[in-house]
Parts: sequence; structure tokens; C-alpha cells
Amino acid sequence: MSAATGIRTSEADQTASASARSSTAAVHLDHVSKQFGKVMAVDDVDLEIREGEFFSLLGPSGSGKTTCLRMIAGFEKPTAGRVLLRGEDVTRRAPYERDVNTVFQDYALFPHMDVRRNVGYGMLVRRVPSAERDERVHDALCMVHLDAFAIASRPSSQVGNGNGLRSLERW
Ligand SMILES: Nc1ncnc2c1ncn2[C@@H]1O[C@H](COP(=O)(O)OP(=O)(O)OP(=O)(O)O)[C@@H](O)[C@H]1O
Ligand SMILES: [Mg+2]
Repeated sequence: MSAATGIRTSEADQTASASARSSTAAVHLDHVSKQFGKVMAVDDVDLEIREGEFFSLLGPSGSGKTTCLRMIAGFEKPTAGRVLLRGEDVTRRAPYERDVNTVFQDYALFPHMDVRRNVGYGMLVRRVPSAERDERVHDALCMVHLDAFAIASRPSSQVGNGNGLRSLERW
């Protein structure tokens, strides 16, 4: 993709977003650019997303949407600009040091673990005691109507996409 087609906020958008700025945005891309060699994937994007706001990023294939999300998550470092989460500059922080979650297009379940263990894995890493973990896994699976089925003890590689997504919703 050429520099001309990379995501770039228009001047009108920037003025509108500047006037709507809340004191501390949940997410702020502060004049962020990302270049891969000669490819300008994201070109000076400046936007703010408020707490609780439902925000859609639309654009043609290759226009830099995923690259923006990867920079918010910390999987890519911007070539220029800053990423702020709740006012805090996290541009140089690793993904695990940021309080954001990403739901990937292809569901990132561990194929060798059953659905229950997939759902509980985040809590295992955070050393949540096993009794509490089991209870919260049960509650989460009940909420998405998965616990009543034998599906919860099936390896995640053997559940369909819809149920895989429901497993991730509470991850
Ligand atoms: N790791 C990389 N190395 C080199 N070029 C990359 C890399 N990641 C993305 N690009 C390029 O950056 C540009 C933006 O890609 P990106 O994946 O962000 O677009 P997108 O808007 O998410 O597209 P799609 O709608 O197809 O998912 C593309 O030209 C892509 O080829
Ligand atoms: Mg994409």
C-alpha cells in the first residue's frame, strides 16, 4: 500500500475530534504513524475514543486498521506519535503491561485444552485460587449457555467457531 492510501484522519475529522475531546480519553492515538520499509501503513492518525464509546474503524483492505489495533495492543511500535490509554503514555510498553484486550479474527484458543481450561487460563496466569477460578469459569460458561453441555470438557479444537467465540467472550 502506498503512503497515499494509509489511514489518515482528515483535517475536518481532527478539528471535530479536538473539539469533542474529553479530559481523558480511554484511547488516544496521538499523531501515530507506522512505516514498514517503504510502506506507510498508518499515516499520522490522530483520534480519541471515550470510555464506553462504541467506535468502528472502517477502511479498505490494507488501509492500516489492523496495524492501528496492533499499536494500541502493543504488538507494533509506532514509527512516530504516541499511544495513550486513559491519559497514560504506553507507547513503549509491552502488550502485557497494558490494560487492553484483543479479540482476534481467528479465535486464539489453545487447541490442546478443553473449553473450561481455555476460559480459566487467564485466571491461572494471574494465580487466582483454583476454587474461585472454577466458580468463575462455571459462571462465565453458564452466562453464554455452554456449561450445560458436554462441550465444556471438549478440546477447544473440537468445537465449532460459534462456540469457540463464546468461549473467548468471557476469557
Ligand atoms: N509486518 C508487516 N510488514 C510489512 N508490511 C506490513 C506488515 N503489517 C502490515 N503491513 C502492510 O501495512 C499495510 C496495512 O496493513 P493492515 O493489515 O493494517 O491493513 P487492514 O486495514 O487491517 O487490512 P484488512 O482490511 O485486509 O485487514 C498493508 O499494506 C500491509 O501489507
Ligand atoms: Mg486487518
